[in-house]
Amino acid sequence: MRAIITGIGHYVPEKRLTNKELEMMVQTDNDWIVSRTGIKERRILDKDKGTSFMATKAAQVVLEQRNISPEELELIIVATSTPDMLVPNTAALVQKELNAKYCWGFDINSACSGFICALATAAQFIETGRHKNVMVIGADKMSSITDYEDRNTCILFGDAAGAVLLESSKKKECGIQDFILHLDGSGDKYLKMEGGGSLCPASHETVDKKMHYVYQDGKNVYKYAVTGMADVTIDIMKKNNLTGKNIKLFIPHQANYRIIDAITKKLNLDQDQVVINIDKYGNTTAATIPLAMSEAYQNGRMKRDDWIVIAAFGGGFTWGSLLLKWAMN
Ligand code: UT7
Repeated sequence: MRAIITGIGHYVPEKRLTNKELEMMVQTDNDWIVSRTGIKERRILDKDKGTSFMATKAAQVVLEQRNISPEELELIIVATSTPDMLVPNTAALVQKELNAKYCWGFDINSACSGFICALATAAQFIETGRHKNVMVIGADKMSSITDYEDRNTCILFGDAAGAVLLESSKKKECGIQDFILHLDGSGDKYLKMEGGGSLCPASHETVDKKMHYVYQDGKNVYKYAVTGMADVTIDIMKKNNLTGKNIKLFIPHQANYRIIDAITKKLNLDQDQVVINIDKYGNTTAATIPLAMSEAYQNGRMKRDDWIVIAAFGGGFTWGSLLLKWAMN
């Protein structure tokens, strides 16, 4: 059995936060943000809504596109670092909203690599024959953990969700072919959000120390991200006897335009082989890849039997790549 993507969709909030608006919030300017990151604007979800709202919307797009009812879903996996709450998991909230009566589900917290981890996990349930379908969602409301007084981070992040439906196929040559995933906890000091967990539960002190906001040592993460994402992409292509010429689209995690550009050069890919939408949405963590994939599909950039490689790097550190042969028309 192979796991193939049979539906894909995304949701972004309507509200935009532009660089001009950020200029009025922190000491920054549009030229710095565009030249250092490639970001022009990002989307911000309403304060009274959580990540599950966006995740549900994206899943509904997929169900409608595939024309199946929520009752047919067997498993929901949500990759997120910004769950609505610690318990219950986001998958449960999505299940309730969808009214997907006969499925189970769980969340995966792997920061920006979350969607690849979720896709790789979901594929195992399909390949073993345990499940006929899995809804895989990457969603993050980064605005809920972003300090809009910290110019190092507030210019980077945005809110979004993307989802795919995985189903089984007997055709060995299509769908998810391979993945390589890595974890190195020594990266914990460079990218983290310490407050609100079991080690530092919420208190006046954690709030005063701004521990409920994401912290990033951007320079260090940048270095590791370029090397990590480029190497793991080269590794998966080599392992599967492919070169850049065989790849129709490379869909990288969207953290910084310069990171993507550096990797594109390392991989010897042409610009038109790479999906970039960071200018419109910023870094939406677990949502960047399904969002970019969904837009690429809508724009007709992926056709049946195209080789697609996705790669991500994020907090942990976690990083990885996944190779698939596109199976939709
Ligand atoms: O998604 C998870 C993985 N995350 C990533 O891959 C992100 C990796 N990191 C990055 O994308 C980049 O490091 C950043 C975009 C976060 C920062 O870019 P940088 O080129 O590494 O800038 P920097 O941190 O070295 O800062 C350069 C200068 C500093 O000033 P000094 O110390 O040279 O005087 C910063 O204070 O730019 C300053 N700066 C800013 N200036 C205007 C930092 N943020 C801003 C800002 N506006 N928003």
